[in-house]
Amino acid sequence: MEVRPDALVGATPASDAMTRRLGVLISGRGSNLRAILDATRDGRLDAQVAVVISNRAEAKGLHDARQAGVDVEVIEHVGHRSRASYDRALVRALHAYQVGLVCLAGFMRIVGPTFVHAYPNAILNVHPSLLPAFPGLDAQRQAWAHGVKITGATVHLVTEALDAGPIVAQASVPVLEADTPETLASRILEQEHRLYPEAIKTVLDGRYRLDGRRFVQTSEPQIAPAPRERA
Ligand code: GRF
Repeated sequence: MEVRPDALVGATPASDAMTRRLGVLISGRGSNLRAILDATRDGRLDAQVAVVISNRAEAKGLHDARQAGVDVEVIEHVGHRSRASYDRALVRALHAYQVGLVCLAGFMRIVGPTFVHAYPNAILNVHPSLLPAFPGLDAQRQAWAHGVKITGATVHLVTEALDAGPIVAQASVPVLEADTPETLASRILEQEHRLYPEAIKTVLDGRYRLDGRRFVQTSEPQIAPAPRERA
């Protein structure tokens, strides 16, 4: 799509109308980004990655995005005097690409109220534990060190509280006696790659309702589904 990020600043906020245009935010490896791209390509997910944004120019995932022909933006946080200012820069770029649903995929920045209010119930995150257990950094090692026997992966809606929004989907992963934090993390990652595209589909299809903080999946859409784009 030929659209310069600056050209559309102030365009229709995505929160007004969910679209099937995804904005994926990364900071590093980008394996969840690849899982999302794969799902859009093989038809499991009727959506398009409109832009990949990284806060780090050296993020490996940017290379894969470019290879896949997806537009990328590097928006570094250095130089922004406040979180709100950085969040506004992110939102401007996402609006410019007419993103309807934001997917955080290893994005190592806390998003603030400015961002969350721009995309109400339209920001997802994947976290490598069964939330609310082990929020924050290094969740796989936290779970391993704690000695839990079962951990897993969570996809949740992003709210202002860190790793605490309504839970869209979870997958459990047993902790084996022989596990190291690394072997455990790699089995959790396999589940993330399966879970995240499925959760994105559920949200785009509007097949849920929110009951307090409970995300309840439904067979029929309860929220207006994002319209399918014609090729
Ligand atoms: C994943 O473990 C995800 O759960 C966490 O950050 C990691 C990102 O990995 N939020 P990748 O960049 O998608 O490979």
